[in-house]
Amino acid sequence: MHLHLFVFVAAMVVLFGHAKQVDAQQNSARQDFLNLCADCHNSDAKGNGPLAKNLTNIPPDLTRIQERAGGSFDEKAVYDWILGLKMSNAHGSREMPIWGDWLMDEAVEDSTSLDAATAAEREIKQRIMAIVDYLKTLQVEE
Ligand code: HEC
Repeated sequence: MHLHLFVFVAAMVVLFGHAKQVDAQQNSARQDFLNLCADCHNSDAKGNGPLAKNLTNIPPDLTRIQERAGGSFDEKAVYDWILGLKMSNAHGSREMPIWGDWLMDEAVEDSTSLDAATAAEREIKQRIMAIVDYLKTLQVEE
């Protein structure tokens, strides 16, 4: 095969593989959102999910995080909030689950090994980061 063609084909394979990986990550983030978040924030992320009426605090519209923050999407703040590093400052009580703990329990199951915990932690960070990326794509234009 001509070398240029070979390089071109190889590059396409790498690019295509990468695009598929990104797609897969976005799909699983959307799936995580529907499974873990939609009960309260609704499947369109605008709040008012089926569980919302049972809560004291109103689940905010997650398509307007950026708007509420004055036009910038603070990925770190959103990530920290979901993981559970930040508590609610409005009421001092947080109704939203601490997803870091919840996902950790789910990921390590009965294992008590440090390796399992380390691997689980890495996986959880990626999962939450993918959810943050997903939320970012939902932000409305002001
Ligand atoms: C049990 C209901 C419930 C579930 C499930 C839930 N949330 Fe929430 N969420 C809330 C409530 C209520 C608030 C408002 C603060 C509080 O009282 O905890 C909130 C606040 C937030 C905020 C802060 C928004 C802002 O602008 O301040 C983000 C981001 C968020 N949720 C994302 C998520 C994501 C992502 C998931 C799924 C992984 C999720 N939530 C699952 C109830 C929920």
